[in-house]
Amino acid sequence: MRTRVTDMFGIELPIFAFSHCRDVVAAVSRAGGMGVLGALYFTPEELEMELKWIDDHVDGRPYGVDVVMPASYEGAGFAADELVGRLQSMIPEGHRRFVEDLLAAHGVPPLSSDADPGKVLLGWTDATARPQVEVALRHPIALLANALGPPPADVVDLAHSRGVKVAALASTPRHALKQVEVGVDVVVAQGTEAGGHTGEITTMVLIPQVVDAVDVPVLAAGGIGDGRQMAAAMALGAEGVWTGSLWLTVEEADTPEMAKRRILRATSRDTVRSRSWTGKPARLLRNEWTDAWESAGSPGTLPMPLQFMLVSDALRRIGRSGAAELATFPAGQIIGITSQVRSTRDVMYALVEEYTDALDRLGRITDA
Ligand SMILES: Cc1cc2nc3c(=O)[nH]c(=O)nc-3n(C[C@H](O)[C@H](O)[C@H](O)COP(=O)(O)O)c2cc1C
Repeated sequence: MRTRVTDMFGIELPIFAFSHCRDVVAAVSRAGGMGVLGALYFTPEELEMELKWIDDHVDGRPYGVDVVMPASYEGAGFAADELVGRLQSMIPEGHRRFVEDLLAAHGVPPLSSDADPGKVLLGWTDATARPQVEVALRHPIALLANALGPPPADVVDLAHSRGVKVAALASTPRHALKQVEVGVDVVVAQGTEAGGHTGEITTMVLIPQVVDAVDVPVLAAGGIGDGRQMAAAMALGAEGVWTGSLWLTVEEADTPEMAKRRILRATSRDTVRSRSWTGKPARLLRNEWTDAWESAGSPGTLPMPLQFMLVSDALRRIGRSGAAELATFPAGQIIGITSQVRSTRDVMYALVEEYTDALDRLGRITDA
């Protein structure tokens, strides 16, 4: 397969795989696609170790790193050393009580006193993502991707000065144009079906609009789980696909067992766009957690990053307690077609085979 994207990165298959799991990232790149590691959950020190591991396991193939530098969030002007304290003080007591009451109603115990303090902010502020960018650019990455808005222009310039291409996720043609204005090389047009933060327009409607709006290559994201969907995306004008949910259940994935089991038996109706995880709309597994935030007794969600700061401990407690009915997780509608665990390599082969079959079928229709 050959598109501007395969030429840009020297890859055989225009298949990009977003994952927080280094094993998946390396396996996709080794199989001829491009693995992209989500840096969000890692401290700069942890990210350094993950990338070192990938460097050692990717057989010299290209891979990427994804950071989250939102265009807007609470506390954007706060200095790094006072960021957490000032943000913590902005969380209303009533919200903390709502979370405690919800956990108590489901019998979720507090964390033990020796539990590690956890991460309350993660990499979704400019101040926390920049150190991740610095670490990433010390490694031989081929791509730096950004979610939740155009990356800052100086970050784009820095990446380019190191020979690294830049991508950004867009959920409207207007977002895509803004990204091209700051110099991104590839637009990832992501439809509402996608897992994680997502907009309102479906992939089918979004891709042609973005392709028409920008002159850089477009990758289609959201709802791509087999080769038929990949063929459709390429027919809409995309020059590759960017996938996420598909990799949550592969053999190599380190997805928490509770989430993996739910994803394998979920249908495409079992996800919901909810602000209950981060404060911005994200598609999550729907369950009693997401329902509670929509209920009459809900105090409403807080803006990013306050909502995650409010719920991060609660989510850890839920994970440890095994309260599956509250354990939510970002996941896209495509989980309705993932019902078995396969290796990353098998998924890559299947995508190519199904894509080729789809094209053959279209060819037969056209020739008839
Ligand atoms: C568990 C999960 C976490 C995600 N986290 C991020 C993230 O940190 N940064 C990002 O750019 N995209 C993130 N995404 C979105 C993916 O990059 C991708 O656009 C999306 O999964 C594509 O749609 P799909 O889920 O239908 O394949 C996440 C997706 C999932 C499923």
